Amino acid sequence: MFRQARQLSTTASLFKYPSSSPSSLRHYSFKVFRDVTPLRTLRRELLLSKRTIGLVPTMGALHEGHLSLIRQAASENTDVVVSIFVNPTQFGVNEDLSSYPRTWDADVAKLEDLNSELSDTNGSGRITAILAPTAQTMYPTLPPSSEVDGDGSFVTITPLAKKLEGASRPVFFRGVATVCMKLFNIVGADRVYFGQKDVQQTVVIKRMVKDFHIDTDVRIGPTTREDDGLAMSSRNVYLGGRRRAVGLALYKALKAAEGSYESGMLSRADILDAANGITRQVLSEQQSLSETERALFEVDYISLADPDTLDELDVVDPAKGAILSGALKMAPLEKTNSGEDCGLGDGKVPVRLIDNLILKPVN
Ligand code: PAF
Repeated sequence: MFRQARQLSTTASLFKYPSSSPSSLRHYSFKVFRDVTPLRTLRRELLLSKRTIGLVPTMGALHEGHLSLIRQAASENTDVVVSIFVNPTQFGVNEDLSSYPRTWDADVAKLEDLNSELSDTNGSGRITAILAPTAQTMYPTLPPSSEVDGDGSFVTITPLAKKLEGASRPVFFRGVATVCMKLFNIVGADRVYFGQKDVQQTVVIKRMVKDFHIDTDVRIGPTTREDDGLAMSSRNVYLGGRRRAVGLALYKALKAAEGSYESGMLSRADILDAANGITRQVLSEQQSLSETERALFEVDYISLADPDTLDELDVVDPAKGAILSGALKMAPLEKTNSGEDCGLGDGKVPVRLIDNLILKPVN
């Protein structure tokens, strides 16, 4: 996947890599690491120079949400490490590992543009390194297993990992916690950055850092949204126009529930009825359309949960607030029209949309 990214010296300031077009060479303003040892050398150098490192873990397919996390990391650290690794162990055996978007050239171009922007920003740090390891580097002993009872060295954070997303994706948070533990150990960052969009992931990572006494500060950046409110996600490229418009129902449903909370309602029924009403209405409108017009979906869950334990709440304690979250499974399009924008994969790839809003504590 990242065949062109080979490790060079850690001391040079400009780095050349063969691009995916074999005839040209690329100059990067950051170092690209495939292996652990050279990155550790850099980390030691930075530590001795009293510099600070912010780590932004990603699986590539970078979008504005990632860039905004990197900007936050650059504003709080002298040096930013961005990891790009499509982590096999967080995909279930029947999930979309092979079709997950891999966009190395576009990702690197975005990071280069961002570094130019950061160089112009007073007092800001910048992207110093990309860690783009192979699966062999990240899983040096056994091939990474996605089986629920597969062997391997795994980090499990239960019961958090079994709730919400974990209920239908049983290995997901085991994979996330495991790869993040590895990345944290490799990079030794002062701060690690995650997006609010994946709220359960943020709760699992905070718990892991606390329970394993990991010496890093977990920082959460706000969800970056399109103008109409759709949460940015690497998976949105699969939606196409029709599914994108219908998938917005999730955000609208969460906003309606948030409105109920903000108007003073605290009971689960009152808050979630507002959200469920919206998804039911949108689904029934779609079901009444023809196969060439509609986009069907299933609501996996709409949850109202405690911010620390993710336990479902019957009543929100206004002093604590809550996490309102949901997941929709957008089905493949049944029939497409010629010339229609159906997204990457021609509308055939099922897309899981997740989103959340934090119901803030009220004093
Ligand atoms: O949020 C993601 O992109 C991934 O779950 C992460 C944190 C990079 C781990 O693979």
